[in-house]
Amino acid sequence: MKTTILGLPAKENAQLITELNTLLSSFQVYYQNLRGIHWNIRGKRFFDLHIKFEELYNDAQLKIDSIAERVLTLGGTPLHTFEAYIAHNQVTVGKDVSKDEKAIQLIVASLTTLLKIERTILEQSGAIADEGTNAMMSDFIAEQEKTIWMMHAWLEE
Ligand SMILES: [Fe+2]
Repeated sequence: MKTTILGLPAKENAQLITELNTLLSSFQVYYQNLRGIHWNIRGKRFFDLHIKFEELYNDAQLKIDSIAERVLTLGGTPLHTFEAYIAHNQVTVGKDVSKDEKAIQLIVASLTTLLKIERTILEQSGAIADEGTNAMMSDFIAEQEKTIWMMHAWLEE
């Protein structure tokens, strides 16, 4: 069996790189969704939400870098153009969202899509004992599930 310099099976490794690039592209759209609501949010909760969305996009930016560097670690090339991101993205694009509930719903929808991609990657990295990718997905999933819980708590008010 052909293996990579990390000793991972080449075929499955290539598949993981593709999936990670899909996650990267989708994360970039999620990031831009967050910038959009950070800028356009209106209403009585402006100050709270404006800061909250900034906190979330800063966190997303760190994750984006981690995903891209994992792609490189696995021997791949991270996608880096808007063109490629649009082609590979799976997250719903938010446009002109200014209402607080719609903004929170956009976050939940984006995170739900990201979780789906991450669980697919988790399964594939688990199958070849690629612990580096697997552990990264575990951390992302746990954090995002917690954020979804908090967003749902907010929506219930
Ligand atoms: Fe800002």
